[in-house]
Amino acid sequence: MSKKILVTGGIGYIGSHTVVELLQQNFEVFIVDNLSNSHISVLEGIEKITGKKPHFTKLDLVNKLAVEQYFTKHHDIDAVIHFAALKSVNESVAEPLKYYQNNLGSLINLLSNMISLKLNYLVFSSSCTIYGQPDRLPVNEEAPKKTPLSPYGNTKQIAEEIILDTINANDFIKAISLRYFNPIGSHPSSLIGELPLGIPNNLVPYVTQTAAGIRQQLKVYGNDYNTSDGTCIRDYINVVDLAKAHVVAVNRLLENKTKENFEVFNLGTGKGYSVLDVIKAFEKVSKKKLNYAFTERRSGDVEQVWADATKANKVLGWKAEIGLEETMLSAWNWEKKYRGI
Ligand code: NAD
Ligand code: UD1
Repeated sequence: MSKKILVTGGIGYIGSHTVVELLQQNFEVFIVDNLSNSHISVLEGIEKITGKKPHFTKLDLVNKLAVEQYFTKHHDIDAVIHFAALKSVNESVAEPLKYYQNNLGSLINLLSNMISLKLNYLVFSSSCTIYGQPDRLPVNEEAPKKTPLSPYGNTKQIAEEIILDTINANDFIKAISLRYFNPIGSHPSSLIGELPLGIPNNLVPYVTQTAAGIRQQLKVYGNDYNTSDGTCIRDYINVVDLAKAHVVAVNRLLENKTKENFEVFNLGTGKGYSVLDVIKAFEKVSKKKLNYAFTERRSGDVEQVWADATKANKVLGWKAEIGLEETMLSAWNWEKKYRGI
């Protein structure tokens, strides 16, 4: 019998790529998503890639009663992967309560039902944002958490604490928190990818939309940082590599291989690339010149951060495989296909 995995936020960017990997590994997938930042057509892409249909329920995880009813019906779920969250840093600064309510309310509802159903396993989407500007690079899981730069970042820190406290009080629950660095790119089929609503905040969709003629010019936020070329450095990880790590994490839980009830892993490549490196990689693979200009720094940006992913490499046996150029090509192919270019 295949194991039943509940994927919250499974229509979103990282969730949909993970659903594909889970279906390809013969898990039975149950998606809940309120479609607040995603489109139902993503389901078609998932089905085209895998030839399989995940179960889908439109559900707002903040709605306590609806979540209880869902779990009453689906009491035999084996594990949960919790992606559902709002993720815009700027919006979280303008509307903090919306972020605390959505990101923490949904987690609390989920955990309450896990307790009452004695559901054991949770994989949680965390972020490198909790390290702020680390004192040492590359940053490992032991690094101290820094004061969050935004309410969004704070929801990730608090969420990890909520999960830990819940596990301490209910030792049948085991969780793995995956701290993502900068997920980019799309599935090689170009049937699913990153679909930001409105004007993108993140670098790569801004790059591809500029090249596609939807945005006029990319603004590079700052060229006076203390880095090799003056622009910020990040650890850009291919979304398919990232998705695969979730399958490994779920198997680790299901096979009872965890060493602690709450485990934390950095998911990154271990390499830092500057904004200009990303632009150069894009120009090379797309054979297009990108229109960009330097502007002032963006407030809240850390100068440089990249992962020490040794723990994930050794303990999970997972490693990011796909390089920056191939990833930028996948992002460009997705943009072209989506725009019909
Ligand atoms: P996304 O917005 O594409 O996907 C999130 C999905 O959750 C969306 O489909 C949205 O409709 C859904 N959702 C939000 N609130 C919900 C609710 N209350 N009930 C039901 N569904 C809800 O985002 P993503 O990039 O796929 O991110 C997935 C997770 O990874 C998030 O928790 C995010 O904070 C985290 N993360 C993302 C990044 C990144 O750069 N993309 C980096 C670090 C961590
Ligand atoms: C941002 C969030 C972070 C979140 C992550 C994933 C901030 C301060 N941080 O990370 O909390 O976890 O997204 O959603 O918003 N850049 C440009 N021009 C652009 C866009 C970006 O130069 O138009 C630069 C940025 O200055 C940065 C790099 O590109 O140096 C990457 O930016 P982005 O994709 O927004 O990710 P982060 O800032 O790392």
